[in-house]
Amino acid sequence: MTDSFIIAIDGPAAAGKGTLSRGIAEQYGFHHLDTGLTYRATAKALIDAGLPLDDETVAEKMAREVELAGLDRNILSRHEIGEAASKIAVMPAVRRALVEAQRRFSKKVPGTVLDGRDIGTVVCPAAPVKLYVTASPEVRARRRYDEIIGKGGTADFDAIFEDVKRRDDRDMNRADSPMKPAVDAHLLDTSEMSIEAAFQAAQSIIDAALSRNA
Ligand code: C5P
Repeated sequence: MTDSFIIAIDGPAAAGKGTLSRGIAEQYGFHHLDTGLTYRATAKALIDAGLPLDDETVAEKMAREVELAGLDRNILSRHEIGEAASKIAVMPAVRRALVEAQRRFSKKVPGTVLDGRDIGTVVCPAAPVKLYVTASPEVRARRRYDEIIGKGGTADFDAIFEDVKRRDDRDMNRADSPMKPAVDAHLLDTSEMSIEAAFQAAQSIIDAALSRNA
């Protein structure tokens, strides 16, 4: 059986990794999994069932029931769900359960794109392509702010900026699988790069790896 070709994309929220990952998956005809949605779905299931967010045994049980096929970005994108997700994401038993499901997904042929915080370091450390997509906290907060305003909503830039920094802090400083670039990851700083430029940079890295693999 031919192995799956895995593209691991990590980085903080609002750095552009979601758009990039979806674009890459489409370009290469690969399956895509936004692993953040698996943490979000677990958190939402707990909230909907009126269960606590600080009980690891209960949260692990929920994590084991998450169906990767039914993850809906629109339903799970709410801010409070993201906050709750980053709280349960510190729990090793929750991570173990979700990482098992993510690894199973990564094996789909002909290839997969997984995006998250720990794909290149923990979930798929042997992936032939690892990208770490980042941007300054100011730029990321500005993008999120513009997105909300663009949809006709109201937003407070300072509150968003504080939120971006708090989420980074929680993700980078947790003991289990903290967010960090794998030693062999290619860094893509999109602070001053358009999504098209980031896509082109990613494409040349992927094409080079694909031809090494051929
Ligand atoms: O990327 P997204 O904002 O949807 O992720 C929500 C939260 O899930 C993150 O803040 C992070 O705490 C957690 N997460 C994680 N590992 C991943 C993906 C997401 O810990 N691979």
